[in-house]
Amino acid sequence: MKRLSLVVICISFIFSAHAQLNDFASKNFSDGYPIKNIDELINNMSLEEKVGQMSQVDLGVIAVGDICNLKNPQQIDLAKLEIALKKYHVGSILNVGCGSGTVSLENWKKIIATIQIENQKSSKFPVPIIYGIDAIHGANYVMGATLFPQQIAQAATWNPQLVKSANEISAYETRAAGIPWNFSPVLDLGRQPLWSRFFETYGEDVCLAKSMAVAAISGLQSNVDNTYHVAACMKHFLGYSFSLSGHDRTPAWISDRELREYFLPTFQAAINSGAKTVMINSGEINGTPVHANYDVLTKLLRDELKFTGVAVTDWEDIYKLVNVHHVAATKKEAVKMAIMAGIDMSMTPNDFEFNELLIQLVKEGSIPQSRIDLSVRRILNLKKELGLFDQVVYLPSSYPDFGSQKFAEVSYNAASEAITLLKNNSNVLPLTNKNEKLFVCGPAANSLNLLNGAWTHTWQGVDSKYNTKGKLTILEALKKNFTASNVSYLEGTSLDSVININSCVSQAKNADKIIVCLGEMPCTEIPGNINDLTLAAAQLKLVDELSKLGKPIILVCCFNRPRIIHSIVNKLDAIVYAYLPGDEGGRAIADCISGAVNPSGKLPFTYPKATNEIVHYDHKASEDLATDFSNNAYQPEFDFGFGMSYTHFTYSDFKVSSDTLSNNEAINVTIKVTNNGKLRGKEVVQLYYKDVVASITPSVKKLAAFEKIELSAGESKVVSMKINKQDFSFINKELKRVTEEGVIELMLLDYKQAIYVK
Ligand code: BGC
Repeated sequence: MKRLSLVVICISFIFSAHAQLNDFASKNFSDGYPIKNIDELINNMSLEEKVGQMSQVDLGVIAVGDICNLKNPQQIDLAKLEIALKKYHVGSILNVGCGSGTVSLENWKKIIATIQIENQKSSKFPVPIIYGIDAIHGANYVMGATLFPQQIAQAATWNPQLVKSANEISAYETRAAGIPWNFSPVLDLGRQPLWSRFFETYGEDVCLAKSMAVAAISGLQSNVDNTYHVAACMKHFLGYSFSLSGHDRTPAWISDRELREYFLPTFQAAINSGAKTVMINSGEINGTPVHANYDVLTKLLRDELKFTGVAVTDWEDIYKLVNVHHVAATKKEAVKMAIMAGIDMSMTPNDFEFNELLIQLVKEGSIPQSRIDLSVRRILNLKKELGLFDQVVYLPSSYPDFGSQKFAEVSYNAASEAITLLKNNSNVLPLTNKNEKLFVCGPAANSLNLLNGAWTHTWQGVDSKYNTKGKLTILEALKKNFTASNVSYLEGTSLDSVININSCVSQAKNADKIIVCLGEMPCTEIPGNINDLTLAAAQLKLVDELSKLGKPIILVCCFNRPRIIHSIVNKLDAIVYAYLPGDEGGRAIADCISGAVNPSGKLPFTYPKATNEIVHYDHKASEDLATDFSNNAYQPEFDFGFGMSYTHFTYSDFKVSSDTLSNNEAINVTIKVTNNGKLRGKEVVQLYYKDVVASITPSVKKLAAFEKIELSAGESKVVSMKINKQDFSFINKELKRVTEEGVIELMLLDYKQAIYVK
């Protein structure tokens, strides 16, 4: 009997939510917010309502059911929602419930609409709820959305325009679900390859990562058109990616100078591009957790960088000041520390204790009301800028391109342009004979999960039941490009143990070429911690054993981070480094192997040869003395910026417009690039420089500018790059960004020219 009435209640709720959703979409939503003027709103809000605006809870707190259940997905629990809205006046909700699961577009609309409808009823002067989500490589928690290559692969395209387009689509498909706030991009620099979130970065170089950051922000945001754009969130301010152990959320020791030299510029560039929100680093730098660091969160972020948007904590990080960092004895002390350090919104996210404690602190006079008003004003401004006071959920018909083939092609282009050809002995690739007998093996050969990595339908991205329908694995795509009956497959190994290597070797005997697809378990954050960069022994053994056959071996790598493969590199004829290329990665890789795609990706990081040889391309000269004083000790497995093509480019006519450079001037560096091969192809022209003598030991080489061009066979183009004094600046001992007077050497492949900077 009980069960029957529950079913009746559920059905009637679903029907009424449906009716409300239609109703909601057609009514003038703006009427539900009688006050839209921010000053007036703040004057009419109680302390409890203001504190509510500063809190963010997880969907799980207000939902019922199992998000992971595709047939009967999670729905809003109206009783729980009422507590969140009426009692605690919560202003923001995030993510999918239970920490994982993908949600249909229709269900998202229902969830968001129900929240907003109930919210409008909950107060005399309601403020719209801002929903935030991790759309990390596309709208990855929305079923059927376009999944792009992960950020590290996007950086490998060296094509900011493509990265902008990917982010535009990501924003469009996130808004299609009714969600206006995306916790992306990650602007932490990838200088610690052990880190489990290395794949979420734009790589190790400041210049490259800065242009990607600007592209991502402009793709996600827009100040004029909210229907198809979202607020970006710069993550994770500051120094999160460079912990000493390489483990997630563990201590980083970074001098103020290095913090500003390497880790700050991406954030600075994003702020200058109008980034609306920022998420804070969960870890500590030099003994101070960033969530409690006034110098970083207020003096640096607000006073110096002039950031005026919203600063949100990372997951439960205020409480972690007590139970992880031990800098606060009680949660109340932790709330005071974080708010006074500069936090605007607490991703609490599982309870309402933050709200109660903050109210107490203000009532006792430990936190001034003016501090609360400052954050509330920023949050209300954000909601206003995003158009939330006017309309919250748009009609599905406004998003005809959601999950379209047109969008998939942009993802395919990004995956294709990311592919970095690291080795191609005797031009073994491309395989132009479509009837060639191919033997395919390895854990990444037939897995969409290993192409996508974490943040794919679920947090860790390991569950195959949510995979996007119709997308091809590498094996499936190879079967389309070659005569299917000539493509045979056996797994060989799982990610870390041998399955059937001996059978692989017997089967491979009949093949003309062997394609080994190696990979890494999709993972991020603490679950992705490792202690050794070396690729799993079982996967290395698979190549070892196959190499004894003496047949050409093509290696395809789908790694979260540059796993050490030194022991097998000499046994391989070709290496196709695909990063985590997303849902279209299988197609892009197969097309690269068959020649439909001419690879043009370049490494956005230095690929190490040994686990303890983490030296970046822009190292100091003294690193070169490390082993034999011969000045060439720096020999990574593959250099930053390296990547081969199926065609051949030659460079000539290197010219620099002036040999001196002073204030407010710019010089033009030009070079002629010719495609001397037989295929159309893309090339990345990379201009480096060296400060010959400087007050802080200069790097042996630093990227100053780059440009990606496309040339038909036989075609030439003159590439012109404009640079100014600022491009040679660095942080001096006084923590000031300066360009010192003296000689700068410009370097473009083998061309070198000295200029004098005044
Ligand atoms: C991650 C963030 C993410 C947040 C919300 C945290 O654990 O560090 O990057 O945005 O969770 O899911």
